[in-house]
Amino acid sequence: MDSAILTLKEWVAQSDNIVFFGGAGVSTESGIPDFRSVDGLYNQKWKYPPETILSRSFFDKNPEEYYRFHREKLVIDGVKPNRAHLRLAELEAEGKLRAVVTQNIDGLHQAAGSKKVLELHGSILRAYCSRCRKPYPADVINYGQGVPRCGCGGVIRPDIVLYEEPLDQDILREAIDCIRKAEVLIVGGTSLNVYPAAGLINYYRGHKLALVNLSATPYDGYADLVIHEKIGQVFSQI
Ligand code: OAD
Repeated sequence: MDSAILTLKEWVAQSDNIVFFGGAGVSTESGIPDFRSVDGLYNQKWKYPPETILSRSFFDKNPEEYYRFHREKLVIDGVKPNRAHLRLAELEAEGKLRAVVTQNIDGLHQAAGSKKVLELHGSILRAYCSRCRKPYPADVINYGQGVPRCGCGGVIRPDIVLYEEPLDQDILREAIDCIRKAEVLIVGGTSLNVYPAAGLINYYRGHKLALVNLSATPYDGYADLVIHEKIGQVFSQI
C-alpha cells in the first residue's frame, strides 16, 4: 500500500473525530461527471456556459432553458453510491466520522447510509415553489415537462444553491463548527475553486488535513497529506 494511504489509514483508525469535506469528484466513480475536469460539465458545448445557466438571474429570465439543462445534465438516472460514499457511511456508523460536508447535490451520501450530511449547495432531490415556498417532490421538476408551476402561479425550483445566491447560513455555520472541531479533516474530490465552500478548510485547526484529489488543488501546499488518486480506490483501502 502507498505510504500516504497507509498514513491516512492510521489517522482514521486512531480517531473518532473525522470530518469529510467533498465535491463532485466524489461522485465521478458513480458515473456523474464533475464540473472542471476535461470531461466535466464546464468543458462540454452548450448554448450558454453552464456557470451562466446555473445562476439565479438566468433561472429567473430563462427558466425553459434552465430546465432543459437541468433535465439533460443534472438529472442522472440509476446512479449508485461508490466505495467512497459507502466507506464514509460505515465510518459514521462506527462512531468515527462526525459529518460529511458536501458541495454535491446528488444525494448519494444519504443513499449510502450517511446520516449527518451538510449539503452546502442543496439537493436536486428536493424542490419548492419560488414564490410561496411550498415543497414539491423532486420528480415534478426532474421528470416534468417545460417549466413546472405551483398552484399559486410561482415557478417550482430545485432546492439547490444557484450562482449569485447565498449559502444556507445555518448549514454553513454547522459545517464551520464541525470542521473547526475536527481532529482529522479529509478533503476529497473537489478542485477547491468555488467560494465560500472552498474557504471552509481555513477553519480547520488540527494537524491531520488529508487532501485526496486526482488533480492538484490550490490547497495542496497547505495539507499535511496529499494523495492524487481516485477517491473510491483510496477509501476502499482505509
Ligand atoms: P470540480 O469539478 O471543480 O472539481 C472536481 C475535482 O475532483 C477535480 O479537481 C478532479 O480532479 C477531482 N476528481 C474527479 N474525479 C475524481 C476521483 N474519482 N477521485 C478523486 N478526485 C477526483 O467540482 P467541485 O469542486 O465540487 O457549484 O465544484 C464546486 C462547485 O462548482 C460545485 O458544487 C458547483 C460547481 O459550480 C454550484 O453549482 C453552485
